[in-house]
Amino acid sequence: MYVTKYLLVFILSALFVIIYTSCDQVEQTDSSFDANLINQHLVTDVSFTEQYRPQFHYTPRINWMNDPNGLVYYEGKYHLFHQYNPFGNRWGYMSWNHAVSEDLVHWQHKPVAIPYGKKEEEAIFSGSAVVDHNNTSGFGNGQRVPLVAIYTSHYTREDGSTWQAQSLAYSIDGGESFVKYEGNPVLKYDDPDFRDPNVIWIDKTGQWVMVVALPRQHKVQFYASDNLIDWEFLSDFGPDGAIDGIWECPDLFPVAVDGDSQNTRWILHVDINPGAIAGGSGSQFFVGDWDGRQFIPDETISGGDVIWADYGTDFYAAITWNNIPEEDGRRIWVGWMNNWMYANIIPTSPWRSAQSIPRSIHLETVDGNIKVIQRPVEELHALRSEHRRIEDIAVSGGTHSLSEYGIYGKSYEIIAELSIGDAQDFGFEVRKGGNEKTRIGYNSQREVLYVDRTQSGEVDFHDGFASVSEAPMKLKDGKLILQIFVDWSSVEVFAQNGTTILTKRIFPGPESEELMLYSEGGESSLIRLDFWNLKSIWN
Ligand code: FRU
Repeated sequence: MYVTKYLLVFILSALFVIIYTSCDQVEQTDSSFDANLINQHLVTDVSFTEQYRPQFHYTPRINWMNDPNGLVYYEGKYHLFHQYNPFGNRWGYMSWNHAVSEDLVHWQHKPVAIPYGKKEEEAIFSGSAVVDHNNTSGFGNGQRVPLVAIYTSHYTREDGSTWQAQSLAYSIDGGESFVKYEGNPVLKYDDPDFRDPNVIWIDKTGQWVMVVALPRQHKVQFYASDNLIDWEFLSDFGPDGAIDGIWECPDLFPVAVDGDSQNTRWILHVDINPGAIAGGSGSQFFVGDWDGRQFIPDETISGGDVIWADYGTDFYAAITWNNIPEEDGRRIWVGWMNNWMYANIIPTSPWRSAQSIPRSIHLETVDGNIKVIQRPVEELHALRSEHRRIEDIAVSGGTHSLSEYGIYGKSYEIIAELSIGDAQDFGFEVRKGGNEKTRIGYNSQREVLYVDRTQSGEVDFHDGFASVSEAPMKLKDGKLILQIFVDWSSVEVFAQNGTTILTKRIFPGPESEELMLYSEGGESSLIRLDFWNLKSIWN
């Protein structure tokens, strides 16, 4: 009798471990939990010049990072919280780490904001943060407006099985320290996978609205609340769009079409893993309306196709900043520049993962259709140093190095206009050296913009890494406009004014610095190119 019972528990736990590890993210750290080490990251010496260390992308000083969490603007500062393992360089002991910035570019590392709860075996999974201006939660002390984090508690029971529910933690000292609400969790549901709550204040109805994922059901649910504590179910959305993987990290927000505040549409963003366009993890948009209770997608905008936020392999779990002042008016987000396919084994140490550059999200009418556009935030201009401009270079059959113009490097931005001429394939080779190169190009026969990292440097650590990512794209009058950000271990490509984006990590040798033009099957030309070296954000 006892034997059967234990056998059953054993089989169930084993099953759980198998299912969860299939997400490739349950790797525990080798170090054991020690509360004294939780802020080790602030005292460990790091140079920020380690091999592959991004120079203008946010990275933690040490240890593992995944999703951005709780992005919120509060009293002149952008807060960036993120999934973090305080004890190691792989996923585990999930906590919210914290950084702040006054310009979205330079970041100051802060103590861990919400640590893993050893007592109740509570991992602090992804979520959002809001500024509770009217103290609806009652967490305020009359002096400081409370900052409230809404996160997923991922609990582990004694038998090893897990469940998830939504919880609160609040700060009344501007985000310096957080207290977990004693009535946690505040929202439960009858599914062990129920996570990533994203909350916004909706003025029109005078309510908080939460969107939260039911990953294995390919659904999100919407809830409303007057006080962030009691939640009323409103509706659900999905399955829809891409569903060949679990749904995570939703976000719902309004965007003015063509900047016209009288014409607002709503964007629902939902991530999928695996099953994204470039393989593994990725991000999709739905555009439509929010009627106060439910999200209604507008099929005329998507044309029935999935709207991918990024066609590269490495842009996931992005969420937008809450509470950016109305006079600014931008909706800005960052995404985790990684992919669950190989996230735990990318070759960096003593930290792992980076966040993308911040991008603003727009809805603009392009050729009569509403399109989602993303642009690097203007604040990044502050990093521009040496500028070079070249014009009118014909490239026929082969490659053309730009070193003679002083154009090369490891961390730079380019804005270029190219003309296809009669070439079949043309574009740039970046981080080139020896037999390493990353191609950012356009193929005219297939009408795709692509990033090819098959020879980008270190690629052998995972079978899926040496990949080519493609985005369908038509040229207008044979012209290709590219804005490209190259860092020590990434490329981010914004094509045709932000209508098509590709983000990919690369791991080239430090001496691979050349930048080339290439053209195959005919002659293409570079009409104009502006190049800026970008300064490091770390001093
Ligand atoms: C997405 C995700 C979230 C979860 C978190 C755990 O990358 O799987 O759904 O909350 O990571 O670290």
